[in-house]
Amino acid sequence: MAGRLILYVLIAAAMLPARGQTIPRTWDEKALATGLLPPPVAGAKVTLVTADYYYRIPERVMYRQYPVYAARFEPAGYLTELARKEPEVVFDPPKLKTEDEWIAAGREVFRYPITFVPVEAMQEWRGILERSGVRPARDGSYPQLSLVVVKKGVVMAGFLSCATCHTRILPDGNVIEGGQGSVPDLLLGFPPGLEVMRSFERALFRVPWLKEDSEDRVESMSIDQVNAVKTAIPVGVVARHGTSLFSPVQIPDLIGVRDRRYLDHTGLMRHRGIGDMMRYAALNQGADMLTDYSGFRPTYFLTGEENKLPPPEKLERYSEAQLFALAKYVYSIEPPVNPNPVNALSRRGEGVFAREGCARCHTPPLYTSNRITPALGYTVREEDRQVDDIEPTVVGTDPTLTLRTRRATGFYKIPSLRGVWYRGPLEHEGSVATLEDWFDARRLRDDYVPTGYKGDGVTHRAVRGHPFGLGLSQEDRAALMAFLRTL
Ligand code: HEC
Ligand code: HEC
Repeated sequence: MAGRLILYVLIAAAMLPARGQTIPRTWDEKALATGLLPPPVAGAKVTLVTADYYYRIPERVMYRQYPVYAARFEPAGYLTELARKEPEVVFDPPKLKTEDEWIAAGREVFRYPITFVPVEAMQEWRGILERSGVRPARDGSYPQLSLVVVKKGVVMAGFLSCATCHTRILPDGNVIEGGQGSVPDLLLGFPPGLEVMRSFERALFRVPWLKEDSEDRVESMSIDQVNAVKTAIPVGVVARHGTSLFSPVQIPDLIGVRDRRYLDHTGLMRHRGIGDMMRYAALNQGADMLTDYSGFRPTYFLTGEENKLPPPEKLERYSEAQLFALAKYVYSIEPPVNPNPVNALSRRGEGVFAREGCARCHTPPLYTSNRITPALGYTVREEDRQVDDIEPTVVGTDPTLTLRTRRATGFYKIPSLRGVWYRGPLEHEGSVATLEDWFDARRLRDDYVPTGYKGDGVTHRAVRGHPFGLGLSQEDRAALMAFLRTL
């Protein structure tokens, strides 16, 4: 008995990261089941892997990272120098004592790539970034990417860290970590062969409960055609897994996410505390691909069979401590200093904001009511009503993402307007480039040319919905935007 008790005490002590805190269990089946909103289609079924399977996946070992520089900034002999280094494990939980140490370790996790390729890929990446107009940071590096020495003499190039998609590089080279990312969709994967490309796209986007899935088109597309679709997606918008190659999604700003009650544009996951943030990261950086969507598992890409799981030993996951540190870091990110002054114009704009009823949905101080609103054409079900915080007004934006993808819920989240001065493109699909365009009534016309994401093969289309603020006078509109840019 006593021995057992001591063991429990020891385990409890080991789980105490900073005074009085315990690390929540990521793969808590109940928390996961109550955390995810169901698909909006009757009969569609989403079944996650069991905790037993999840915890058999080996934990990720994190090594020291080194910057990827734009070619003209790379120091002479840089790679040769790196090849001489020993690998160095950097994430070491027993060393983390204070809150600041946890947050700093979480930043490493945020920046740690989950996919590695031979270092030669750097050339291709630099080309894509340059062609897309993404400039390096002030120090000449691309913080979206990094290099890791995995073994003496072996340097690998890594991407798909949180930082890959959630780091904004401003035109002056300043970096906003956690901002809407500066990443071209094309960078996220350039499949080596036709068959691999097709099954990869299927794994990412197939929606098994739809009779007509737009993703089926990929089956008859060439690599060049798929790459052309990806190239047409503006920087700041990506076809994240579970969205669609043809309905990509705006990368959200993570600064301030601690206060948001739903995650994703479709409000797919409830955010009730740090455990949910850890679950979100685990799902989106691997475990979503293991999920059974009405009989289809995206891992078929690896196994060749629709509903087969790969042996867990072949995979990799974040450790509990890594996820905890990561979530603490994400919560800790402070907004950059806002250069836009509060002045007479912005104060007038604040009046317009109040008068136009914006605060009903974009409620200060978060500038979101933290509610979700039914998408155009979605009939709210009794079960939705019982559990969710629903704003009944239908905003009327394009419902494809939230009705016809694996991230669909039937709802759109009301986004926070904080930090809108450094964001863009705007709207869930990034259809418009700027605030000016969002409040331009011409966007409702069918002959409008979207200034953000247009749509595959689309030259003009209406950017529907969200009629608020479209009927303002020139002066009121300018004032409203000046106000929004101070948030
Ligand atoms: C390939 C690009 C990519 C990577 C890598 C990525 N994200 Fe995201 N992230 C997105 C996109 C796109 C969305 C929006 C998805 C949606 O709305 O359905 C998103 C949404 C989120 C959200 C929800 C925010 C909100 O307000 O709704 C959080 C939190 C988040 N990501 C955190 C992370 C963390 C932490 C990591 C690393 C563990 C990570 N992301 C890795 C692209 C990425
Ligand atoms: C009935 C609720 C509601 C009202 C009222 C409302 N909005 Fe919104 N707003 C939303 C929703 C929902 C979205 C996201 C729509 C989407 O992406 O499909 C949004 C998006 C936005 C965006 C784009 C944010 C981004 O990051 O992409 C801005 C800017 C905005 N609203 C400003 C305003 C202003 C200013 C007003 C008042 C003139 C207003 N809204 C009134 C619900 C509302």
